[in-house]
Amino acid sequence: MTVTPRHGRILVVDDDAAIRTVVREALRREGHSVEVAGSVAELRRAVKAFEPQVLVTDVILPDGNGLDMVPELLADYPSMPIIVLSAQNTFTTAVRATEQGAFDYLPKPFDLGELTRAVADALAMRASRGNGAHLDIEVGPQDDLPLIGRSPPMQEVYRTIARVISNDLTVLVLGESGTGKELVARAIHDFGPRQSKPFVAINMAAIPRELIESELFGHERGAFTGAQARTAGRFEQAQGGTLFLDEIGDMPFEAQTRLLRVLQTGEFSPVGSSRSIKADVRIIAATHKDLTQLIADNAFREDLYYRLNVVPIRLPALRQRVEDIGELAQFFLDRAAAEGLPRKKLDPGAIDRLAHHRWPGNVRELENMMRRLAALTREDVIGAYQIELQLGEIGSPDPTAEMVPGQGGGLADAVEAHLSRYFATFGRDLPPDGMYDRVLAEIERPLLQLSLAAVRGNQLKAAKLLGINRNTLRKKLTDLGMEPGMRKS
Ligand SMILES: Nc1ncnc2c1ncn2[C@@H]1O[C@H](COP(=O)(O)OP(=O)(O)OP(=O)(O)O)[C@@H](O)[C@H]1O
Ligand SMILES: [Mg+2]
Repeated sequence: MTVTPRHGRILVVDDDAAIRTVVREALRREGHSVEVAGSVAELRRAVKAFEPQVLVTDVILPDGNGLDMVPELLADYPSMPIIVLSAQNTFTTAVRATEQGAFDYLPKPFDLGELTRAVADALAMRASRGNGAHLDIEVGPQDDLPLIGRSPPMQEVYRTIARVISNDLTVLVLGESGTGKELVARAIHDFGPRQSKPFVAINMAAIPRELIESELFGHERGAFTGAQARTAGRFEQAQGGTLFLDEIGDMPFEAQTRLLRVLQTGEFSPVGSSRSIKADVRIIAATHKDLTQLIADNAFREDLYYRLNVVPIRLPALRQRVEDIGELAQFFLDRAAAEGLPRKKLDPGAIDRLAHHRWPGNVRELENMMRRLAALTREDVIGAYQIELQLGEIGSPDPTAEMVPGQGGGLADAVEAHLSRYFATFGRDLPPDGMYDRVLAEIERPLLQLSLAAVRGNQLKAAKLLGINRNTLRKKLTDLGMEPGMRKS
């Protein structure tokens, strides 16, 4: 028996002739009949003359925008799935493609195998449903970019998000600490049909074990010692919206059993009550832990895992997407500026230095570092040297512990390690003259800034904390260009 491949009439639209040819040849090899077009005008003509069963189109065309044409084309040809190709690989593009009703979205550069698979899926879907079944999504006012990064692993994340936005499938967001799990959960909520209803987050690791069930499901008056009034739980607060179960790997076993029952029955009961309430919530869970390991250790219910892991979204560690670091870093500097800190830019050397760090704290670590740099750096353009200084501080896990008398001078070690690296960056040459003041200023700056921040900008208290005269503090602040009031408290 032979399996006949599904053939179809495919129209490929791209202003780049090389892409048109490559795609046409790849699709022809699959047995499809292919026409190509290079502009919106040609697209319109070809759709009429060729009656394609699937349309593959680029976004930016010389005389228009392929993505903007999707709704109009679907209105006229509802059974023609449209696959959008785009080099503007942002979160917004992926979401807009879905919003406009595109069948699929492929970021450029795309893999030909992936494109031929998408075309086959589109034909199969067309055959099974008899139409292009596009997704109808309420579009919110937000047009800003909640997620930054155009690296291939983030593209994969955006595509998955775009696919789950319009439905209620349970999503499990996995990734190391600080990779953006909560941000992804919020994006799914904010761009979906539940956006006008609450987004309620509950962190299993932050709540005492014995209180988790009552936090989740609420309790009746007198349900346990201390329960003085009836309280609504997070499930009830999230009704109609999204419930974000953060650090799900830390959920106590008994609570897991209860949660599983809710997911199975779609109903929950407050602690100490026999009433059952229908749960109308979309569930998004997240963890940085390896749930399969927890299952093996009998710390996590396997059946609950399968209930939650309907659509997994795996967030890459920052070191797995170094190409995004420059954009992210500048985004955080701009955000710091919008919050009142001085506006800074990064030079290419700084970005290169950032790309070589391992980022154990991922995007959060980068965000914090950019905030510090915005507050502490004197120059408007941040160079590799300033990054080097910051990275050295991060290398020591608890900088305060090192200042404890008699503990071997960890700060000194850190400075020494820094300076050795600093000298090393000049190879056989020497750093520019005037190092003494420069290095001391670099140490003084964070010392003064952090002390001031700790006492909310009160110079009198800062002087006392530092053990220096108030006038000395003033003078140092002026010398270092740290004008008081420069930073919002
Ligand atoms: N792709 C991104 N674009 C912009 N900001 C991001 C991105 N990813 C993460 N962030 C920012 O980094 C910080 C950490 O993100 P988030 O809290 O979502 O991480 P998390 O994975 O939930 O971390 P944890 O496991 O520690 O709870 C947040 O301030 C978030 O706004
Ligand atoms: Mg989190």
